[in-house]
Amino acid sequence: METKLFGDKKLTISPLSKKDFKFAKEFLDFINSLIEEDAKILINKKINLKEEAEFLEKGVKSIQNKKKVYLIAKDGNKVVANTSIELGVYKRNHIGRFAIGIRNGYRGIGLGTYLMQEIMKLAKKELSPNLKIFQLEAFENNKPAIALYKKMGFKIVGKIPKQIQYKGKLIAEYIMIKNI
Ligand SMILES: CC(C)(COP(=O)(O)OP(=O)(O)OC[C@H]1O[C@@H](n2cnc3c(N)ncnc32)[C@H](O)[C@@H]1OP(=O)(O)O)[C@@H](O)C(=O)NCCC(=O)NCCS
Repeated sequence: METKLFGDKKLTISPLSKKDFKFAKEFLDFINSLIEEDAKILINKKINLKEEAEFLEKGVKSIQNKKKVYLIAKDGNKVVANTSIELGVYKRNHIGRFAIGIRNGYRGIGLGTYLMQEIMKLAKKELSPNLKIFQLEAFENNKPAIALYKKMGFKIVGKIPKQIQYKGKLIAEYIMIKNI
């Protein structure tokens, strides 16, 4: 666990572990806050405590099996961000799929940049078999995310039209990759 200052916020960053099971309610509150604000993430239906607890358990298993790395940022007990990289399967097991979410009120203070650097380092160290490519998807209208990914060395390699239902429209999704 590490404590770091982002703007005026003192946050702790740590990998997801069994110890987090008792904070399932805080994790639920975090993900549902993103859903409530209609953030530019795939999930659009609020989840319940049972689903969140199952998600955390599954995550810890994948981490133990070296198929996933996962970092959490907390402000006290409040979950304010998460990021993960998960290995693909079979003929895609050289690809690490990246995801990130930061709670409203904690954006634009360098947390995304830091978490992204740390999770990529962790993925290179922990995942097995070894990664060759980082990959992610971003809604075409998610300017902060695309700017962050470009800054971290990701390149747009594809744009798939009409992938996402967003505020009554069908919008495109970018596929971005970074070679290792
Ligand atoms: C996208 C997201 C991860 C960015 O994280 P963040 O902590 O706000 O980003 P940082 O403060 O580290 O800034 C990183 C870069 O993002 C870009 N950025 C951040 N906020 C921005 C904004 N409001 N407009 C445009 N670019 C922005 C900048 O390029 C910035 O780099 P710089 O500070 O060197 O200029 C965060 O806003 C978020 O979680 N949003 C909601 C969920 C989401 O969209 N997840 C990603 C799904 S693909």
